[in-house]
Amino acid sequence: MTIIGKRLETAISLLKKCRNNEIFADIGSDHAHFAIEASKRGIARSVIASDINKMPLEKGRENAISQNVDMKFIISDGFDSIENEGITSAAICGMGGELIASIVLRSQTAKKCDLILQPMSAAEELRKALWDNGFEITDEIFVVENKKPYTVMRAVYTGINTEYTYIDLYLGKKREKTDAFVYYCEKVLNSAKKRRLGIIAKSEPTDEIDSLISECQMQTINF
Ligand SMILES: C[S@@+](CC[C@H](N)C(=O)[O-])C[C@H]1O[C@@H](n2cnc3c(N)ncnc32)[C@H](O)[C@@H]1O
Repeated sequence: MTIIGKRLETAISLLKKCRNNEIFADIGSDHAHFAIEASKRGIARSVIASDINKMPLEKGRENAISQNVDMKFIISDGFDSIENEGITSAAICGMGGELIASIVLRSQTAKKCDLILQPMSAAEELRKALWDNGFEITDEIFVVENKKPYTVMRAVYTGINTEYTYIDLYLGKKREKTDAFVYYCEKVLNSAKKRRLGIIAKSEPTDEIDSLISECQMQTINF
C-alpha cells in the first residue's frame, strides 16, 4: 500500500483536473508514489515514471511491481529523453523552483501538456519563469504537511505572458484564505523580514519588500 501525504494528494487532485491524462509522466518520480497512485486510481490511462538517477528509478520500479502496477520506467533529465512519448500531462514535484522552471522552459512537450508543479523552494522563481514565458497558472493550492506549508500548481502553455506584482510572485494570484495559505504567508513573511535587512544594508529601496510584508501581515493578523 502506498503512503501518500497531503502534498502529493493535492497534486493528485489537480491531476484529475487536467484536460487529457491519456499519457501521464511523473518526472523526478523517485519512489514513484504519485505515478503508482495515478495508475491505481485510474486517473491516467498510461503512466511513465522517469528520474535522472538510476537508484530512485529502481526503487520506484520495485514499488510498482510490489503493487502490481504496470508502467514504463525511463531514465531522463527532465523531459529530455521522453519528448517523443506523446505525453499529455506531467508532474514535476518535490524539486526546487528554479530546477522545475529550467525543466519546463527547455521542453517542447511542456508546452503541449498540462503540468502539475510542486516546488520545495523558490516558488517565486517558478511563478516568474512561467508568467514571463507564456504559461498560465490555472490553479494553485496551498497545503500543510508535517507542519510545513507547500504550494501545488497546475499550469498550461497559452503563449500569452501574464502580468504580475511583486506580491503575486511570492504569494501567487490564487490567494484563497485557507489555514494553509495563512501558514504559507507566515513562512513568506519570516523570510521577507530577513531579506529586508539585506536590502537596507545595501541602501536599496524597500518599497516592494514592504508591500509584501504588509500583505503577509494583513493575511496572518488575528489568525
Ligand atoms: C525529492 S525527490 C521528489 C520525489 C517525488 N516527485 C515527490 O514529490 O515526492 C526528487 C527526485 O527528482 C530527481 N531529479 C532531480 N533532478 C532531476 C531532473 N533534472 N530530471 C529528472 N529527475 C530529477 C531526483 O533524482 C529525485 O529522485
